[in-house]
Amino acid sequence: MSFDVDALRAQFPILDQQVNGKPLVYLDNGATTHKPNAVIDAIAGYYRHDNSNVHRGAHTLSDRATARFEQARESVRGFINARSTDEVIWTKGTTEAINLVAFSWGRDNLKQGDRVLVSGMEHHANIVPWQILGAQTGAELVPIPVDDRGQLDMVAFTDLLDERVKLVSIVHVSNALGTVNPVEAIIEQAHAVGAKVMIDGAQAVAHWPLDMQALDCDFYAFSAHKMYGPMGIGVLYGKRELLEAMPPFMGGGEMIETVSFEGTTYNTLPFKFEPGTPNVAGAIGTGAAIEFINSLDRDAVAAHEADVLNYAVSRAKDYPGLTLVGDADHRAGVMGFVLEGAHPADLGMLLDQQGVAVRTGNHCAMPIMTRFGLTGTVRASFALYNTRADVDALFAGLDKAKTFLM
Ligand code: ALA
Repeated sequence: MSFDVDALRAQFPILDQQVNGKPLVYLDNGATTHKPNAVIDAIAGYYRHDNSNVHRGAHTLSDRATARFEQARESVRGFINARSTDEVIWTKGTTEAINLVAFSWGRDNLKQGDRVLVSGMEHHANIVPWQILGAQTGAELVPIPVDDRGQLDMVAFTDLLDERVKLVSIVHVSNALGTVNPVEAIIEQAHAVGAKVMIDGAQAVAHWPLDMQALDCDFYAFSAHKMYGPMGIGVLYGKRELLEAMPPFMGGGEMIETVSFEGTTYNTLPFKFEPGTPNVAGAIGTGAAIEFINSLDRDAVAAHEADVLNYAVSRAKDYPGLTLVGDADHRAGVMGFVLEGAHPADLGMLLDQQGVAVRTGNHCAMPIMTRFGLTGTVRASFALYNTRADVDALFAGLDKAKTFLM
């Protein structure tokens, strides 16, 4: 299989439009990726033909919806190479998945004196739940320092690892810096001191194949909308023995076996963690996104993405007054920067006038901004449909913005 970016772009109808009179150049894929026709059609098709509640009905449409919902779970299982669909929990997204671990596993396993290690480059979703939990349990949240290039200080990590550490919860790819963290080494070292490991894979999942059995993490979280699927749905992968021992996170229908006023017994995995009517269309759309990704030559996609990102980084390094924020040896998907004399918010607005969509601000990662003495950056983030021409449009947009600002 080869990689034909034009043919691929044609599958994403949203890309074919003008914004402010200019062709759209979408470089905000870290916030959300666009959806190919296959995903849009799968969601519309479900609502047109199969819409029904799942696991409940005594009728054909409900059976069909249930079958498609559970097929999508099996697609996720295969996509991440989990041992069983019992280890694939549907959530609203990465944030809910991390909260599930915090308030189910964490409440059950953490106490005063225990520690949760995170990196200094976490998104707020992997900081705040541990702080809320810490206020309830006394467990302490400790950040692993990040060096001046935005890389995790692995010596400091090793020094911090002791018997107090019960969990290491770490981002796979930083949404603000693009740094790819050495999660394999982190998992091995953490397990050696008896700590569990959770990985926030929101920014990683679209970029390369994942293998839960090879990785051997205890929990892994991701969102469908950052891998060409719909918003409002994501996945928590957890090792079966941990999920089985964990109490429910939220109560309601579907997650129970029997309910009486004397007491309730809970459903088996994965349903124990899925109360209420699930996002069936979202699950089906996620399954379609996985089919879309699996239809591509992933090595060719990775090579194309690396080429576009490396080109962007090399142009950035030559651009007068521009400073990269995060310049790790191993990076993916994201390029954050500041431009001397220009506020990121102004640059974002002026780029938008050129049709170039970026994110500006703290990227829901205030601590890493503070680490670099900043309140925000401009972030260009890339997906498989981006091209070197998009990078050229970004820098042409910056040239033009400078004429307004300087
Ligand atoms: N967490 C998403 C981002 O990085 C929304 O933009």
